[in-house]
Amino acid sequence: MKLAGAGALAANSAAPAAAEKTNLGDARSFPRDFLWGSATSAYQIEGAWNDDGKGESIWDRFVHTRGKIRNGDTGDVALDHYHRYKEDIRHLKALGARAYRFSISWPRIFPQGTGPANGKGLAFYDRLTDELLANGIQPFATLYHWDLPQALQDNFGGWQSADTAKAFADYAGYVSAKLSDRVRYFFTINELAAFVELGYRTGVFAPGLTLPPGRLNQVRHNAVLGHGLAVRAIRASAKPSTKIGLADNSIPAVPLVETPEAIAAAEHAMRELNAGYLTVILEGRYTEAYLASAGADAPKFTAEDLRAISSPLDFVGINVYTPTYVRAIGTAPGYEVVPFSRSHPRMASSWQAFGPEAVYWAPRHLQKLWNVKDIYITENGCGTADAPAADGIVYDTDRIMFLRSYLSMLQRATAENVPVRGYFLWSPFDNFEWADGYETRFGLIYVDFATQKRTPKASAAYYAEVVKRNAVA
Ligand code: FCB
Repeated sequence: MKLAGAGALAANSAAPAAAEKTNLGDARSFPRDFLWGSATSAYQIEGAWNDDGKGESIWDRFVHTRGKIRNGDTGDVALDHYHRYKEDIRHLKALGARAYRFSISWPRIFPQGTGPANGKGLAFYDRLTDELLANGIQPFATLYHWDLPQALQDNFGGWQSADTAKAFADYAGYVSAKLSDRVRYFFTINELAAFVELGYRTGVFAPGLTLPPGRLNQVRHNAVLGHGLAVRAIRASAKPSTKIGLADNSIPAVPLVETPEAIAAAEHAMRELNAGYLTVILEGRYTEAYLASAGADAPKFTAEDLRAISSPLDFVGINVYTPTYVRAIGTAPGYEVVPFSRSHPRMASSWQAFGPEAVYWAPRHLQKLWNVKDIYITENGCGTADAPAADGIVYDTDRIMFLRSYLSMLQRATAENVPVRGYFLWSPFDNFEWADGYETRFGLIYVDFATQKRTPKASAAYYAEVVKRNAVA
């Protein structure tokens, strides 16, 4: 009887015990509560660029200026997600991922950047949020993914003025007050360096400016200030359970060879290469090397600015695509960036070198340097030159190879107790890839932009398998 009893007990618990084992013990598994998701941004998918009272954004203006975007593409229609969001959420559900990061278009909510709010704009994000929740998908909202209201560019020169940072905080407070009963996670800004460097230094992104160093440093400062003021505004307005962070594309310094010296050099490089962005946000001061190298062009700021900029965060999100290899050197600054070899493998976007180690080292640096306790990979993915095969399927072998490699390195991080809590794949759908237009495709789901037909690629099945197993597949 005793034996039978024990046997019965064992038989009863056999299934859950085995499931637990795959979640905890497997060499390729992620932690049990690891959050799988995917990410998009408003301008890249929504279309409906002037529907329902939306104001013009700097990206609307930029794409309507001849010669700025490859093939003259625009986001006027994009994926028409604004009207097709229900179908799109069905696709998200089929991937099995439980989280979705989207961005809110500021000029839909405040068409002039400040002033009266546009209820119809907010209503879209209400519908989107409700539909996600009804499908068991947790919404993660980004407040600024680069589509600044054009009025703020016209009136203040955009991020050249601290007035834009203040307007951003007001908007962030307003939206988080309205949505935080259902949206628990907010990101202030997506990729500080991308919109500042490309928008104000090289001019290949909106608003297309090429500012000299002093004015550029002030833009960088106003951007981190906008982040910090928004953190405060969200804390003041949103439900207390709200979690606040950002989605930054910090430069991930990767030791070329993992010697103790190169690892120390990479940690040092991580602080300095990100001094104007993540480092000042997490440390509340600009590094001496940053200020010294800027000299007379250093940004103007107050101690109060620095306090706002370094407002405490609940988590840090990082978008990781490409490594920056470094090695140790005997002279100042103690590290050197190693250029990519001529034959270094690349993905279809010209800027994207292949380097899966980046997704291990970036979060490891966050833990080691700044003791960050909750880290999310808020974007990772690759651009490819997909086309359907004769049978209608897109066999994106390169994307599957890319994901398997990067996820293996991410799994190395979680296995070593680096506190990465979740991963958002960029992107569920092919979309408008900024100055590259529609030619470079980042989606798990192929979009025929002429018909708006969505067709899952081979990589969608791959990602669904990863999510299902909670392990590298
Ligand atoms: C990131 C952006 C995102 C997308 C991917 C490919 O820099 O945040 O909008 O364009 O790159």
